[in-house]
Amino acid sequence: MLLKDRVALITGGGRGIGRGVALRFAHEGAKLALVDIEQAHLDEAAAQLAREAPGTEHIIVRGDVSASADVQRFFDETVARFGRLDVLVNNAGIGNPPLPIITMPEEAWDRTLAVNLKSVFLCSKAAANQFIKQGGGGRIVSVASQAGKTGYPMLTPYCASKAGIILFTQAFAKEVAAHRINVNCVCPGTIDTPLLRGGIETASGGAVTFEQVAGTLLPTIPLGRVGYPADVAKLITFLASDEADYMTGQAINISGGQEMH
Ligand SMILES: NC(=O)c1ccc[n+]([C@@H]2O[C@H](COP(=O)([O-])OP(=O)(O)OC[C@H]3O[C@@H](n4cnc5c(N)ncnc54)[C@H](O)[C@@H]3O)[C@@H](O)[C@H]2O)c1
Repeated sequence: MLLKDRVALITGGGRGIGRGVALRFAHEGAKLALVDIEQAHLDEAAAQLAREAPGTEHIIVRGDVSASADVQRFFDETVARFGRLDVLVNNAGIGNPPLPIITMPEEAWDRTLAVNLKSVFLCSKAAANQFIKQGGGGRIVSVASQAGKTGYPMLTPYCASKAGIILFTQAFAKEVAAHRINVNCVCPGTIDTPLLRGGIETASGGAVTFEQVAGTLLPTIPLGRVGYPADVAKLITFLASDEADYMTGQAINISGGQEMH
């Protein structure tokens, strides 16, 4: 087991990639704090954990990763329950309304940057302070995107937020390396989750299905298939484990080869 008795806080742990990470971490022996803004997502995740990884010690905490009071509360609840923290996975994120910048409402920009990037600042700060207080280091893994390396039209706020995570990761990794805190991020490609399915439906007004879009994308994915949360979870598990002791400040693609730089 790669994460035996490690305490991991996973934001956006209620569904999609975050839930996939929770299930994999559970199978690797971790104790979990799942944070999500949607109680229904948390309840479904807890039910799936009970079915597929019974006995996993976990708490679920409803909160908004972009609100500093919520962030303090879910870190406090995690430490109160488990006595420590070993791993933070900054996974919660949202898309932006698919619009060109020339008509993008200011609130859409602000909300995307707050949920996707400010959250990484708030949660990483809280986690690093806890790691330093405990001594012995810690792991932070954030979920950026291939959209943080290559620009996609109509997704400008999203791309900017994800590029921000990559440089946050590099700079913060250097700041906290002396405390043995490793900070890395992952850059998923096209992953089959409710976020992506919902985004396609919204952008096309329901006229186009996920399967149709996936079909047109397949020629751009050398490994010939879309990804699943379990694919991303494998990489995050590796980065959270002792296997990645000598890695920090990295932004690793997990995209079937769709993104290569
Ligand atoms: N699906 C993809 O193709 C893809 C590709 C690259 C990167 N990503 C990134 O992966 C991460 C997870 O995405 P997903 O596809 O699993 O999405 P998802 O919508 O399926 O799951 C995200 C979860 O985060 C929660 N969440 C949203 N806003 C929150 C907030 N303010 N506070 C707390 N929780 C909040 C949602 O309720 C949801 O349960 C995101 O950061 C996303 O940008 C996804």
